Amino acid sequence: MNKIGILGVGSYLPEKKVTNFDLAKILDTSDEWIRARTGIKERRFASPDQAASDLAANAAERAIKDAGISQEDIDLIIVGTNSPDTLYPATACLVQDKIGAKNAAAFDLQAGCTGWVYASIVGAQFIKTGMYKHVLVIGVEAITKMVDEKDRDTYVLFGDGAGATILGNVDKGGLLSSVLCADGSLAEHLILPAGGSRLPLSQEVLDKRLQYTRMNGREVFKFAVREITKVSLNAIKEAGLTVDDIRWFIPHQANLRIIEAGIKRIRIPKERVAITIDKYGNSSAATVPIALDEIYKADKIKTGDKLLMVSFGAGMTSGAFIVEWSK
Ligand code: ACO
Repeated sequence: MNKIGILGVGSYLPEKKVTNFDLAKILDTSDEWIRARTGIKERRFASPDQAASDLAANAAERAIKDAGISQEDIDLIIVGTNSPDTLYPATACLVQDKIGAKNAAAFDLQAGCTGWVYASIVGAQFIKTGMYKHVLVIGVEAITKMVDEKDRDTYVLFGDGAGATILGNVDKGGLLSSVLCADGSLAEHLILPAGGSRLPLSQEVLDKRLQYTRMNGREVFKFAVREITKVSLNAIKEAGLTVDDIRWFIPHQANLRIIEAGIKRIRIPKERVAITIDKYGNSSAATVPIALDEIYKADKIKTGDKLLMVSFGAGMTSGAFIVEWSK
C-alpha cells in the first residue's frame, strides 16, 4: 500500500513585528477594533529586501533538515502563494536555486489562501503514482507588500511568513482523505485587480490603487464559515472518522471569529484547535503550515494523532485534508 505522509516540517517568520498600536498611528483604526473583530494583536512584515522566495527558502531548509534528507533528494517543489516574487518565473524555481535542490522540478500553484492545502494534495498525487519520492510543499507570502496601507479594511489583516513540508512515503498512517473545491463565480469578492493581462499596470491603475488587494469582507466571511464547515465534515467522512477522532484542527488563520464560528458548527473543542492569528495575522497561503510547525515544535503532536488541515481563499477556493501523524 502506497501511504503518503509528512516527513518534515519547517517555518520562517520575518523578524519585524507590527502591532495594532503601530497601525493605529498610520490608519484610522484601533487596537480594540482589530482585536475584537479579528483576534489579531500583531503580525510580521517582510523587510524591503525580502521577497516570497527568501522567506520560502528559509522555511524549506528547515523542513529538509527536519526530514533528515538532502536538497538533492527533492524531486519536486510546489509553492502556494499569492505574492510571488514576480508574475514569472515561478517563485518555486527561485527557491529551487536558492536551496540548491538541483534535481527538483518546480512550479507555483495559485489557489488563494488555500494554496498550501491545494499544493499538498497535488504533491501527494505525484508520490501516489510513484513518479516522485520527495515533494517539498511551501505556503509563503510577502503579501503585506500587496495590500494598501491607506485601506484600513484590508491592511490590518495581513502578515508575512512561510511554512514548508516534505511529503514522502510512510509505513503507517499518512494521508487519510482530501477535499478540494472552487467557485469562480465568487472571484470578485477577493481580488488583486491589476498587474495581470486583464488590467496591466498603468498610471491610471496606480492612481486608482488597483495594484492592491480588494476584498468584500462580509461576503468572504460568510463563504469562509460555510466552506470550512463543509470541507472539514467531508474530509472527516471520507476518512471514515468522527469529529472526536481529530486530535488537531489546523484551520486557515484569517479571522478568529471565522475559526470560532467554524469549530462551533463542526463541534471541535477549542483546546484541539491550533491558533496563531493573534501573533502572525493572516499570512494567507502560509498560515496552515506555520500553525502546523508551531504545534509540532512545541511537541504537541504524537505519532498516530489525526490532524485536519483546512483553508479557504481567493478564487474562491476551499480545501481540507486529514493526515495520521507518522513521525
Ligand atoms: N478599523 C476600524 N474600523 C474599521 C476597520 C478598521 N481597520 N475596518 C473597517 N472598519 C469599520 C467599517 O468601515 C465599518 O464602519 P461603518 O459601520 O461606519 O460602515 C465598521 O468598521 C464595521 O465594518 P464591517 O465590515 O461590518 O466589520 P466586520 O465585523 O464585518 O469585520 C472584517 C470586518 C474583519 C474584514 C470581517 O468582515 C472579516 O474578517 N471578513 C473576512 C475577511 C477575510 O477572511 N479575509 C481573508 C482575506 S484572504 C483569505 O484569507 C481568504
